[in-house]
Amino acid sequence: MAFSSLEKSPVTCQKFETDRIKEISVTQAPFPLARHRRTRASAALRNLTREVELSVNDLIWPVFLRDGEGVCEPVASMPGVNRLSLDLVVKAAQEAEALGIPAICLFPYTDPALKTEDCAEAWNPKNLTNRAIGAIKKTAPNIAVMTDIALDPYNINGHDGYVRDGEIINDETVEALVKMALAQAEAGADILGPSDMMDGRIRAIRSALEGANHRNVTIMSYAAKFASSYYGPFRDAVGASGALKGDKKTYQIDPANRNEALACVERDLMEGADMVMVKPGQPYLDIARAVKDRFGAPTYAYQVSGEYAMIEAAAANGWIDGEKVMLESLMCFRRAGCDGVLTYFAPRVAAILQG
Ligand code: PBG
Repeated sequence: MAFSSLEKSPVTCQKFETDRIKEISVTQAPFPLARHRRTRASAALRNLTREVELSVNDLIWPVFLRDGEGVCEPVASMPGVNRLSLDLVVKAAQEAEALGIPAICLFPYTDPALKTEDCAEAWNPKNLTNRAIGAIKKTAPNIAVMTDIALDPYNINGHDGYVRDGEIINDETVEALVKMALAQAEAGADILGPSDMMDGRIRAIRSALEGANHRNVTIMSYAAKFASSYYGPFRDAVGASGALKGDKKTYQIDPANRNEALACVERDLMEGADMVMVKPGQPYLDIARAVKDRFGAPTYAYQVSGEYAMIEAAAANGWIDGEKVMLESLMCFRRAGCDGVLTYFAPRVAAILQG
């Protein structure tokens, strides 16, 4: 398609891109005029022709918080990942900041005694997460603090929303999520991450933030979050596995559904999300690519606990080179169109990338 027709009608832009890619693949010179191995022949040529890069700026580090002091408690199903008490989380944030990691994301392991049906601990200004936000902002001011918005760490039922007669109640849950969001914004969070998959929560949170003068607090919506079995180790880490009755299929997306995922992303962007996330990551790279192509918004993927555990387990058995697979897996998120990745590997990768 000629450039002039693109100028005339901006709506053909998308089509132009598609046509151009098709043209490239059919206008390739035949062998031996084209030899793809020429540009692969040396590191210099490979470096020169590489299409995407992985940088420390692409990393968001999820960390698990617990109460106490000086506590570093390994998560059995996630070798190398620990639950940290507040003092150690602050230290970890300082180290991450020094490595140039742009954001850290907090997930609390909640004392079972604090879990209730009304989940009130979720918006307690002095809860573990909110105290950690304040402490990190004070000592590591250049790292963005991201939070999780969902009721599961505080819910006696282990679900992301209120449960009544076996049903997850949408609208009342959204009201609770708004309180949780405001408490986190008040504590100083930079990025709020609603991971609950209730309908209408982004609009409700966004208007509450505007109303409370938190105009620059960003929302990274877990917009395309699937009802996945890859979250198992995470639920161990936050102590939700034991509490969870049933599954999350009435609110998280069926792994078979791509159109529904795109509709959810569009909805969340229209409701005021600044950034959108696809989760899990590697098995859902087609969704990430579609989101980036269609909406062009800042797009992230979550390399979830099960993905991490699989790489670690195979590496521990000597079946794969763990470090190489870690780096390759993260590069592939970039190739799929992601602007960044939430990954438990963040500090390890950052240390490698920083030499
Ligand atoms: C909770 C939440 C989950 C994860 C992030 N936030 C688990 C779930 O939805 O059950 C999963 C992260 C991971 O597996 O690493 N709303």
